[in-house]
Formats: sequence, structure tokens, C-alpha cells
Amino acid sequence: MDSTEKKHNAAKASLEFIEPGMVVGIGTGSTVDELIKLLPSIKDRIDKVVSSSNASTELLEEQGFEVARLNEVGPIDIYIDGADEATKRLHLIKGGGGALTREKVLAGASRRFVCIIDESKLVGMLGTFPLPVEVLPMAQSFVARQFTKLRAQPVWREGFVTDNGNHILDVHELNISNPIEMETRLNQIPGILTVGIFANRSADILLIADDNGVREMRV
Ligand code: A5P
Repeated sequence: MDSTEKKHNAAKASLEFIEPGMVVGIGTGSTVDELIKLLPSIKDRIDKVVSSSNASTELLEEQGFEVARLNEVGPIDIYIDGADEATKRLHLIKGGGGALTREKVLAGASRRFVCIIDESKLVGMLGTFPLPVEVLPMAQSFVARQFTKLRAQPVWREGFVTDNGNHILDVHELNISNPIEMETRLNQIPGILTVGIFANRSADILLIADDNGVREMRV
């Protein structure tokens, strides 16, 4: 089974968590693209849909959805999104697609966060995937120096501007043995909008697709 099929299967498995009348938050990335293609089949169950990126909004509109602004809806009943890495504690690295800030806002605003991945994303410890960090452009050199002090290697994502008009720093070799502590610590650095560690608000349910089907993990 190729990775697109696995992503499709994980996305399909998440549909059963969408109950009638729900406000649904939609993440970003190739796994979520599979989900968006499936959403029309359960359109009658969805009250409102909120999106984490311009790319997902565009796809949702192509599928016939009107996308609401987060400020127009109350809490999100369910947020479904992919991840670049996930642990069995349901801590995540996200932001490979650069949408981490809006993703973290939607995850924070949601009652339940269902993360959909293929088995390649499941890791023992976060940090092999370079950590995406969204940074205010005027602070980029200062923020990069803070990572160098942590003995990590910050690399600017060339030619990339986020939906919020900011830059992304991909941080290699950062020690993330304690994801909650590292997320909290990095959040204190002025100029950082968001770090791609999702540990203080981790996923509630992880759906992992492999050759045998889709299994579920909760903490
Ligand atoms: C987008 O910014 C990311 O957080 C994605 O959720 C993450 O990169 C997973 O993307 P794929 O589903 O394309 O692997």
C-alpha cells in the first residue's frame, strides 16, 4: 500500500468522529487533502467548517463548503489535522506545510483534536523532523541566535512566506526529550509566533494507518 492510500485510510477513519451538528476544524497538508475530498459525503452532518490555511480553504470551497471564520463560531467541536511526527504520548511536530500558527489556534479552540497520520510519522522521540518555527521577519536573526545557543541548527525556509506574512525557521538537531518543557521555553522567546511542538495541547486521538488498516491511540 502506498503512502497516499494510507493517508486516505486515516482520513476516512476520522469521519466517524464527526457527529451531526458539529463545528469542524480542518488542518492542512496532504493527509488533510484526502479528508477534504471525503467531506462532501458527510456534508449533512457538518454545521460549520473552519480552516487552518488559505490552501485548505481553497480546497474546501472547491468541494462546495462555505468556510466560516473562527471569530464567527463558538468552540470547535472537532479539529482534524495531520502531523509531521507523533509520539505515543500524542505529542506532535507540525508545520511542515508552514500553517502551524493557525493550526495551533484551531487545536487550542477545539474540544477534541483527532490527528491522522500514516505509520511513518510515528516516532519514539520528537525532533528528527526539523522543528518548524514561525517568526516575525524583523526578529529572524535574533531568534536564530537563540537556537544556536541551544546547540541546534536553524535554517531559514527559503522563499517561503506564511499566510500571516511571516517567515519559517526549520530547526535541526534540537533536543526535544521533554516536549512540554521545550514548547513552553521556546514560547518565551520574543519574535516567535509559534513553535511546531504541539505538546501543551496535544492530540486527543491519534489514527495511524498502516498496511493492515487504521489503529487508534489515546493517552
Ligand atoms: C502543515 O503546516 C502541517 O502541520 C501538516 O499538518 C503536517 O506537515 C502534515 O502534513 P502531511 O499530511 O502533508 O504529511
